[in-house]
Amino acid sequence: MTQDELKALVGQAALHYVVPGEIVGVGTGSTVNKFIDALASMKDQIQGAVSSSEASTQRLKALGIAVFDCNEVGELSVYIDGADEIDGHGHMVKGGGAALTREKIVAAQSRQFVCIADESKLVNTLGAFPLPVEVIPMATARVMRQFAAMGGVAQIRQKEGQPLVTDNGQHIVDVTGLHITDPLAFETQVSQWPGVVTVGVFAHQKAHVCLLGTASGVKTLTF
Ligand code: 5RP
Repeated sequence: MTQDELKALVGQAALHYVVPGEIVGVGTGSTVNKFIDALASMKDQIQGAVSSSEASTQRLKALGIAVFDCNEVGELSVYIDGADEIDGHGHMVKGGGAALTREKIVAAQSRQFVCIADESKLVNTLGAFPLPVEVIPMATARVMRQFAAMGGVAQIRQKEGQPLVTDNGQHIVDVTGLHITDPLAFETQVSQWPGVVTVGVFAHQKAHVCLLGTASGVKTLTF
């Protein structure tokens, strides 16, 4: 199966976790796009969705699925999102699509995080994928020096020759060369640096379930 087919497989499998009559939390990315497309088949059975990005909001609305603001709704039963990396404890690196801040907010508002990913995302230790960090622009140079001091190499993410601007009006720093052996401690530490809006390690908001697309079908990992 191609990677695209594996993404479609887990996107479809995630429908099983959607609670009829409720509002579902929806992440961002190419795997989530497959989930959103599949969710259209259930749109009359749910109240709607809370979305983690402008891109997902547009896709949901185009399919006739109502989108609610986080502040209009209470706790959600389930949040469904992809990952750039996931380890054997459900800790993830996220933010390849620059939506990490809203993703962490919706995840925090949800009782269960269901990660949907193809098997290339499963790793022993987080850090091979460049770690996305959303940073207030005036702090980027200092935050990059702080990563250099811990052995990382940080770059400001570009789009069309300019620093990418997130849905929240901030920049993204991508950090390579990290070997994140204690994701909880790392997330706690970096989150406290002035100017860091969100670090793309999701350990406090880790996955509870991962639907992993493999050549032999969907494997369900629980953490
Ligand atoms: C977006 C994310 C995505 O979940 C992550 O980048 C995985 O994306 P894809 O499903 O396209 O591989 O965190 O900010």
